[in-house]
Amino acid sequence: MLDFLGGAYLWIKSLHIIAVISWMAGLLYLPRLFVYHAAAEPGSQQSETFKVMERRLLRAIMNPAMVAVFILGILLAGTPAVVDWSSGWIWVKLAAVAGMSYLHHVYVRWFKDFADDKNTRPQRVYRMWNEAPALLMVIIVFMVVAKPF
Ligand code: HEM
Repeated sequence: MLDFLGGAYLWIKSLHIIAVISWMAGLLYLPRLFVYHAAAEPGSQQSETFKVMERRLLRAIMNPAMVAVFILGILLAGTPAVVDWSSGWIWVKLAAVAGMSYLHHVYVRWFKDFADDKNTRPQRVYRMWNEAPALLMVIIVFMVVAKPF
């Protein structure tokens, strides 16, 4: 198994990055949909359209992409000589990944509130949270590519 991982390292890493881009696209786009949805009248045609867009983005893209990021990331972490666990970059990266997973969880909760016409948060809350995944992405990419410590 370890020999296979070593041989497939660059293919697994390519798939990991593809899954990361898909997950990130959703984490950046979904709160943007919430911003506009918060201004739509519950029960209106516009609100019902946003519900469909949010459901498809979450179920068809974000959820499978997140699962793929984790499976491929764990395979990479298990590949011999890829991660030196005594260095700091991997721990900062995993902490930021935990933050991103929490954001995904929060967005799922908000999606359910909109789906049940129970949203009470104003647009500015979603605008603010829209920046969080971008900030975490910057930290993760610098850690895993530059490995500064
Ligand atoms: C449980 C989640 C994750 C684990 C266990 C994980 C683990 C890893 C490992 C071990 C590598 C190989 C590093 C190397 O080749 O030196 C890697 C590569 C990479 N990861 Fe992750 N990762 C995870 C999630 C993420 C997320 C959420 C992002 C971005 C937002 C990300 C972005 C990247 C990038 C860009 C690379 C390629 C780095 C390079 O080629 O130098 N990863 N990941």
